[in-house]
Amino acid sequence: MSHTIVIFGASGDLTSRKLVPAIYNLMRCGKLPPETRIVGMSRTPMSDAEWRSLLEASTKKFIPEARFDAETWAAFAAGIFYQPGDIGVDEDFARLKERLKAIEGDLPATRVYYLATAPSFYEPAVEALGRHGMAEESVGPRRIVVEKPFGTNLETSKKLNACLHGVFHESQVFRIDHYLGKESVQNLLALRFANTIFEPVWDRRYIDHVQITVAEEVAVGRRGDYYDAAGVLRDMFQNHLLQLLMVTAMEAPAKYRADTVRNEKVKVLDAIRVLDPSEVLDASVRGQYVGYRHEPGVAEHSQTATFGGIRLEINNWRWQGVPFYLRSGKQMSCRTTQIVISFRQPPLQLFGGGIPGHTEGNRLVIQIQPAEGIQLHFHTKVPGAGMRLRMTDLDFSYSEEFRDRLPEAYEPLLLDVMQGDASLFARSDEVEKSWQIIDPFIAAWRDPAAPRIDLYEPGEWGPASSYRWMEEQGRSWFDICPILS
Ligand code: BG6
Repeated sequence: MSHTIVIFGASGDLTSRKLVPAIYNLMRCGKLPPETRIVGMSRTPMSDAEWRSLLEASTKKFIPEARFDAETWAAFAAGIFYQPGDIGVDEDFARLKERLKAIEGDLPATRVYYLATAPSFYEPAVEALGRHGMAEESVGPRRIVVEKPFGTNLETSKKLNACLHGVFHESQVFRIDHYLGKESVQNLLALRFANTIFEPVWDRRYIDHVQITVAEEVAVGRRGDYYDAAGVLRDMFQNHLLQLLMVTAMEAPAKYRADTVRNEKVKVLDAIRVLDPSEVLDASVRGQYVGYRHEPGVAEHSQTATFGGIRLEINNWRWQGVPFYLRSGKQMSCRTTQIVISFRQPPLQLFGGGIPGHTEGNRLVIQIQPAEGIQLHFHTKVPGAGMRLRMTDLDFSYSEEFRDRLPEAYEPLLLDVMQGDASLFARSDEVEKSWQIIDPFIAAWRDPAAPRIDLYEPGEWGPASSYRWMEEQGRSWFDICPILS
């Protein structure tokens, strides 16, 4: 069956940077049928030819040079169409419907609607699709992809879910979180559930705590308007960090299927203790990089956090008593996403008792990006007299093992949407529960009575208070910048 991908927000950044390059590459590798079409809609008046040439230039820019070739592009571009229109204008939707009919002909096609617009257009677009009968599946599957942010709190996410469910069945809805498209995140499932040696120690008996860090070097740049309202909790925690936590903490599903995988993920969220806002300050630390208030679109006295560290407890048999520390920030020392499983110290200090560093527990470091890989840190005897020990590691690196570049996260996810596999997409209850967990942090951080936000210099791992906070709990952050080969 042929595919039609309808992109709302066709002239936006996401379309040119991520979506079209990903679809082009899938076509180039023969993963999508040659009769796959892209139909873009946005308000900018443009012809098919004009949009094709804009996309050609941006695709060349955003994919590696070796992947672009004029002939493949020409064949791909023949399936690209543009329909100018306003989501708020009913006649424009009627025109889009007619255009799609003309392009697809009488043959059944799988149709994917991709909401790549500003979030305020999500509900109007869904309602219009409903009014025009465009979610109806008698002539082929109809699916809808919703980008983040999925609401701004529990209440708005419920409202958006209700709107979607008024038009689409849950099985037609794909809430995308591009972190789940990353190879190294999916590999975490393989690491845990395709091997036997990790699972027996993957619990409270052996693990002291877990650290999940998403550090970015970039500043907020041109997104000041959006970011100042969102802050790091809405931008990174409610979605990407909680997804990483779920994959780290979930139980093995009985089968690798969308419903079974998502059931296990939701159970993790269910077991997380939702804090009262009065408990949040003790369970978190926040900061803002120096210079943030001069970014365009940011309020002069903004108290928005560009850095956050939070502690969550998962109250189930596997994890009770094992804190999960989640940390993310902009303008930090380096770009790295990593999960550190920090194992307990040995019960007895056999060697050189009291020598600092001796009793550190083992660590399993899962490097999600950019130096994708896994390292196991363990003590080794330093050659020579005496039992002097040092931490050494076993090191697995994707780039050494697999020579090919890793695919962009959007590629596998878009392919999954075409194939109707929702395993790596968030379900409605998952999104609502994640807001329920993050909302008290947002409320407490925004409270005018909360202490003023701590500042940090760009290039640091957050404010000094973040280190103190960990020390008070008898632990320390692992600040590891990956070595890029
Ligand atoms: C986005 C956030 O969802 O993820 C951005 O809105 C952030 O602020 C980005 O920079 C990080 O994605 P990645 O894939 O570069 O880690």
